[in-house]
Amino acid sequence: MNLKKIVGYEAVKWVKDGDVVGLGTGSTTHYFIEKLAEKIKNEELEVLGIPTSYQSLYLASDSGIPLTTLEEHDVNLAVDGADEVDPQLNLIKGGGAAHTLEKIVDQSADKFVVIVDDSKMVDELGKFPVPVEVIPLALRVVKKQLVNMGGQPDLRMAERKDGPVITDNGNFVIDVKFDNISEPKELEVMLNSIPGVVENGVFAGLANEVLVATIQGLNVLKRV
Ligand code: 5RP
Repeated sequence: MNLKKIVGYEAVKWVKDGDVVGLGTGSTTHYFIEKLAEKIKNEELEVLGIPTSYQSLYLASDSGIPLTTLEEHDVNLAVDGADEVDPQLNLIKGGGAAHTLEKIVDQSADKFVVIVDDSKMVDELGKFPVPVEVIPLALRVVKKQLVNMGGQPDLRMAERKDGPVITDNGNFVIDVKFDNISEPKELEVMLNSIPGVVENGVFAGLANEVLVATIQGLNVLKRV
């Protein structure tokens, strides 16, 4: 059973004619974008997409979804994946190094819906390291600050390219393991206060709803 596909396809039902939709990044949103393109074509909808990465940009444009930008439109609905989701719907994102643009698009949306399979649900954030996008020149000093904050920083290395991952914005990503993350909002703000940090992957209090696929069926969690 492909839970990512089930939840990705399900989320398409939430898109209405005239919507401007934030297109998340990752393997789950891949299914969402694929199915959204089909829906737009079959139902002749006027829907525009705003991508959150080169991955979602090329997938959406190859699939025929008309695209726009945040300069031209506001986002009605953003649909995105996550690496971890806690019971208060705080998230860790950035497994695909796209969290900076994802956060910009997702937080700007009238409604931000997260799509995950149940392996992403945790009691407390922190098993997944927090991705921190950093300006390359600041790497050493940012790592020092992250250690002072109790983190274990690890520069993300590329596969099939020598050296570090370079983000869509031309920066590095440091994955930071924390023993526990009891106050996600506090951590999110602290990480972003380090000079040289562009954005981090803690998304505290941003998601309105989380759609979770399990082998028993789909659950909708709403922020209270
Ligand atoms: C990319 C992300 C992704 O949404 C997150 O990593 C989940 O990915 P997947 O759907 O492939 O499990 O934050 O930066």
